[in-house]
Amino acid sequence: MNITRTGSGQPLVLLHGFPLDNTLWEPLLPHLADHFDIILPDLAGFGLSPLPKPDYHLRDMAAALADLLRGLGLPRAFVAGHSMGGYVALAFARQSPEMLLGLGLISTQALPDNAERQAARHQTAAEVAAKGPGVVADAMAAKLSANPAHETLLRETILRQPVPGIVNGLKAMAARADSSDLLPGLDCPVSIVHGLADALIPPERAREMKAALSNAHLTELPGVGHMPMLEAPVETAEALKKLL
Ligand code: MLT
Repeated sequence: MNITRTGSGQPLVLLHGFPLDNTLWEPLLPHLADHFDIILPDLAGFGLSPLPKPDYHLRDMAAALADLLRGLGLPRAFVAGHSMGGYVALAFARQSPEMLLGLGLISTQALPDNAERQAARHQTAAEVAAKGPGVVADAMAAKLSANPAHETLLRETILRQPVPGIVNGLKAMAARADSSDLLPGLDCPVSIVHGLADALIPPERAREMKAALSNAHLTELPGVGHMPMLEAPVETAEALKKLL
């Protein structure tokens, strides 16, 4: 798994969303580097991380994260995930709760896909396999951020992602487990961040997670879309520092 590492303090893993890579966290890093030893993986099939095998599930990505942390000599870490990365963070919380110092859930949700969404993901996966990453760049680049100034960066980042990784990511998200049952039993601190102008995952999903958790803080960001690390890096970093 390719990682970038920066900063000093307690270990914090930041897991990027779909179909992106670890470079998307850059605007957040100056605001966190004095507080955390920040570990930035490229999830399997994205950025510079190869896809180990076809049908590599989000739970496999979570298990690979546990192996990575053990390999780095880190028995425990804060783990924060954005959107798809949040699904992986929730899978990690289920598999390895003893390794979790605290959880960050940014623009994500505990609920799984319904049947309609699963079918749409499989159709998009077939289109990407046939036509390449332009299919998802066209569908997503303009919708991800509420700030049109981010569209070019997002489009370029999506167009760099390997087709097998995008296809696998779509199928893995469609197959992901419902994490709702996990939330009431989670006893580590949780910080939830959600843009109120998120066009992909409605803010209600964040409020539902907050209500189900016993030790959670919710930061709602007015006018912010699906990309708080780009759109509101200071506020997003402040929310993650609340985990300390
Ligand atoms: C993401 O931003 O990671 C994905 O769009 C999330 C999703 O499609 O469920």
